Amino acid sequence: MLSEALRLYPPIWAFGRTTVSRYELEDQAIPVGSNLMISPWVTHRTAGLFPEPHRFVPERWLGEGSPAPYAFYPFGGGRRRCIGEGLAMAVGTMVLATVARQWSMQLAGPAVASQAGLTLRPRGGVPVVVHRRVAG
Ligand code: HEM
Repeated sequence: MLSEALRLYPPIWAFGRTTVSRYELEDQAIPVGSNLMISPWVTHRTAGLFPEPHRFVPERWLGEGSPAPYAFYPFGGGRRRCIGEGLAMAVGTMVLATVARQWSMQLAGPAVASQAGLTLRPRGGVPVVVHRRVAG
């Protein structure tokens, strides 16, 4: 569930790098001092990497194996990879498990659009109706 949310809505939807040496990307020569944008949002929604990429399908994470290297990178990668990844995943899992066990939520309004600022957020918030789950 959490991985699928991070796939479709990576909070850091793009980040940048400045080249410090000349770099060959396929047949493209990238000069020193170029600013490159890398976007998990775009990669995560690529059909060749994830079937039906725009659909929220948490079950896609239940099978064997994991996505191809750098197909899924909500926490970046390489030397500047997020140092908070473990904490974020642990806290996210605990919050989700704690809240979802007792409460269900229904979207109260039209589909929510994403707003890409420095981080990705839902435009206008996410209005929901909250129901307490019946203990059983
Ligand atoms: C869902 C939660 C989080 C997401 C999606 C996230 C995402 C990212 C991404 C994509 C980067 C790499 C940026 C780049 O390469 O330019 C990054 C770096 C970083 N993150 Fe996170 N992060 C999260 C939570 C946290 C938490 C909880 C902490 C601290 C407790 C943290 C601390 C850092 C730090 C210090 C860096 C910079 C690492 C470096 O440059 O060496 N992050 N994060």
